[in-house]
Amino acid sequence: MYPRSFADGNGDGVGDLIGLRRRLDHLAELGVDAVWLSPFYRSPMADFGYDVADHTDVDPLFGTLDDFDALLADAHARGIRVLVDLVPNHTSDQHPWFRDPAKRDWYIRRDGAPDTPPNNWRAAFGDYPAWTWDEASGQWYLHLFLPQQPDLDWANPEVEAAMHDVMRFWLDRGVDGFRIDVVHGIGKDPALPDDPPEVGGLPHATVNDDPRTHPFIRRMRALADSYDGDRVLVGEVYLLDTRKVVAYYGDGDELHLAFNFPPLYTAWDAGKWRRQIERAEAEHNAVGGWPTWVLSNHDNVRHCTRYGSEACARAAAVLLLTLRGTPFVYQGDELGLEDAEVPADRVVDPGGRDGCRAPIPWDGSADHGWPDGEPWLPFPAGADTRNVATLRTDEGSILHLYRRLLAVRRGSPALRTGTWRALDAPDGVLAYERRSQDGADRRVVIVNFGDAAATVPLDGRWRIDVEAADPTATGAYEGSISGSNALLLSTGE
Ligand code: NOJ
Repeated sequence: MYPRSFADGNGDGVGDLIGLRRRLDHLAELGVDAVWLSPFYRSPMADFGYDVADHTDVDPLFGTLDDFDALLADAHARGIRVLVDLVPNHTSDQHPWFRDPAKRDWYIRRDGAPDTPPNNWRAAFGDYPAWTWDEASGQWYLHLFLPQQPDLDWANPEVEAAMHDVMRFWLDRGVDGFRIDVVHGIGKDPALPDDPPEVGGLPHATVNDDPRTHPFIRRMRALADSYDGDRVLVGEVYLLDTRKVVAYYGDGDELHLAFNFPPLYTAWDAGKWRRQIERAEAEHNAVGGWPTWVLSNHDNVRHCTRYGSEACARAAAVLLLTLRGTPFVYQGDELGLEDAEVPADRVVDPGGRDGCRAPIPWDGSADHGWPDGEPWLPFPAGADTRNVATLRTDEGSILHLYRRLLAVRRGSPALRTGTWRALDAPDGVLAYERRSQDGADRRVVIVNFGDAAATVPLDGRWRIDVEAADPTATGAYEGSISGSNALLLSTGE
């Protein structure tokens, strides 16, 4: 969830914790198990909260710590777990740590001449070096992201201890875990070697894969494990190679879950998706890691926009929620939202990500449930009808499709934890079976990526549990599927 754009409780045009708390029933009805909240901590908002100036307080824009506690209690009362975002790689340049001359060695700094950065690393969000000259210290400091996001030096044990204190602060409050921002970035080679030419000017944040990171994650894991209940660590491992990603599961002693982004960057194509799934299956099985699946988030163009139609987004929902692993749904996917068109004079994100961060339309009224004024970004197209209240009343809507898929998934051992196996299917169609460990529950999924209807014969008798194009459809599977559609089947008439 991107709290800034979910729901506005105080009418200032920016989503906040009170607004989010009031709308929890939407999430409960949808049937999610847990929410991950993007940062709501004190921040100058150069990177919309990923530049943290106080890890243990709520930015006044989003509310107060009391609002957070109330939100957590209400979420737990609905059986929804809450993960918060931990941003360990960098802070804001306004963080007291960065401004304290006694803590200069908490950050990665290097001496040198003001016209020659220490190495060739590039920052994210623009074509510039990952180094900024700091007049105050007469040194360079590293920032894998914006200059306002200096990188902490995890080689300094005081930094690790401080970040463990941050984790304890939230775990003590009762959070169920963390999504850890660019976690693969925290360990760095102190020799700071140049990125090789084949990296071709990519931001260093997408290639940093240093072995020093793993002990840091192991100790984060030990800290999480020392708490009661199931506290979970989900890492953003933004390395676009699944083999590298799975290394961050360690020996079952690092991340519980790691985001695997290559599928997010895969076109809507049956063959390409089959290869991605088989790759993910093989790589995760090799390390005993549990896969994750994600199609959209607050950093990327929404998949409804990328795939080009609601029909594809519906079929993609069936795919996302029936693969083996933990699926992540980005707020608004369940409404089939597209990226908003953001006019040049309303662009605010230096990383060009405003479109996918548009506010959620709650109803068909003029303000779409965002009271007293214009939200910080424009609404996505079609908000008059593509909004929560309107889609709730339509049993055939994409919202009901998501609800139905999540409900079926919850009741199916095969879908929750069963094996995955590809089935024969014609070109343009992906078909697979999920089977529970005891073999008692079997499901078949057929995704037709093409526009034309396809024939997909199956052994035995199967019935339709969920049809992407029409979530109200039921009945026997007759051996074919229409174009840009998907079916979830179970055994029986
Ligand atoms: C990944 C986050 O998802 C993104 O929004 C942020 O800009 C960078 N990490 C830097 O913190």
